[in-house]
Amino acid sequence: MSSSGNRIFVAGHRGMVGSAIVRALQFNTDSEIIKRTHDALDLTDQAAVKSFFKSERPDQVYLAAARVGGIYANNTFPAEFIYINLMIEANVIHSAFESGVKKLLFLGSSCIYPKAAAQPMTEESLLTGTLEPTNEPYAIAKIAGIKLCESYNRQYGDSHGVDYRSVMPTNLYGPGDNYHPENSHVIPALIRRFHEARVNNLPKVTIWGSGTPRREFLYVDDMAEASVHVMELDKTVYDAHTQTMLSHINVGTGHDLTVAELASKVRRVVGYQGEVEFDREMPDGAPRKLMDSSRINNLGWSASTALEDGLAAAYQDFLKTN
Ligand SMILES: NC(=O)c1ccc[n+]([C@@H]2O[C@H](COP(=O)([O-])OP(=O)(O)OC[C@H]3O[C@@H](n4cnc5c(N)ncnc54)[C@H](OP(=O)(O)O)[C@@H]3O)[C@@H](O)[C@H]2O)c1
Repeated sequence: MSSSGNRIFVAGHRGMVGSAIVRALQFNTDSEIIKRTHDALDLTDQAAVKSFFKSERPDQVYLAAARVGGIYANNTFPAEFIYINLMIEANVIHSAFESGVKKLLFLGSSCIYPKAAAQPMTEESLLTGTLEPTNEPYAIAKIAGIKLCESYNRQYGDSHGVDYRSVMPTNLYGPGDNYHPENSHVIPALIRRFHEARVNNLPKVTIWGSGTPRREFLYVDDMAEASVHVMELDKTVYDAHTQTMLSHINVGTGHDLTVAELASKVRRVVGYQGEVEFDREMPDGAPRKLMDSSRINNLGWSASTALEDGLAAAYQDFLKTN
């Protein structure tokens, strides 16, 4: 079934990923996109979600709404991170099923994998070890989301045609990112630091850590394209590349680079001429985090935006919004 002509609910359409999914759907299909702001529909409210699905009756759902945040927020609000995410997933997936939705795509995250998972991280490493403690509550909720999809498929796949899939993106960046000075991911944080250093003529930018950890970054519109691709895969193809109880799909570029290499690319895009130094007293985190994306590559999708091009687009977005 393709998306064309469908009524598609994009949950979290004002978020970074949700808004990119809306862009991709508007570009690719003539479907009607159903949207609700957080204020109009709190997805943790079971009765409200039930009534929304009953009246709107979407054909497909992209579940990109979540309570997300960095290490500080995860550590400070662990109850919110597990409760809100479990409620959003349980309410949306169950109400989707009750109202007859056959196709749903759940967005997770690479933090579902064990702290000590072999690199690059394959889908098979799920539930093979203990999680990174700082975001364990969030990761547990995301793992529950995958298992909700699989369990509804197992119980209602044959009888009701239920086909719920999940994708696990690597670190994302691009339009709609959060550029908060203290609570942002590495790319938006570097963009802000280099930009402010340039406009204020600062001689030096100091970056936390040694600059040696390796990380992977995917442009958010590539992620949106991957989401639509996975949603639209023929069921026989999808089934041939996944297992009933190991059905999630990693989405990354397959390439990583050091934080120092990344900083030098961001510096070039922003046009900062000063010095860059690394504060080796600050913690580095894991030495490497890279997804194994061979499953999605074998399913016919690979990332198309070069990091330099994505960073240039992200910087334009920063200039527009800051
Ligand atoms: N950004 C990344 O690097 C990244 C990487 C891997 C995976 N992901 C995954 O992608 C998904 C989306 O992330 P994102 O970066 O797009 O986050 P985001 O920009 O914060 O967007 C999340 C959206 O969900 C909405 N939302 C939160 N709680 C809600 C509720 N109770 N009811 C209704 N709406 C609610 C938010 O609305 P309000 O802002 O109004 O609350 C926001 O629009 C998440 O599942 C995340 O794990 C993101």
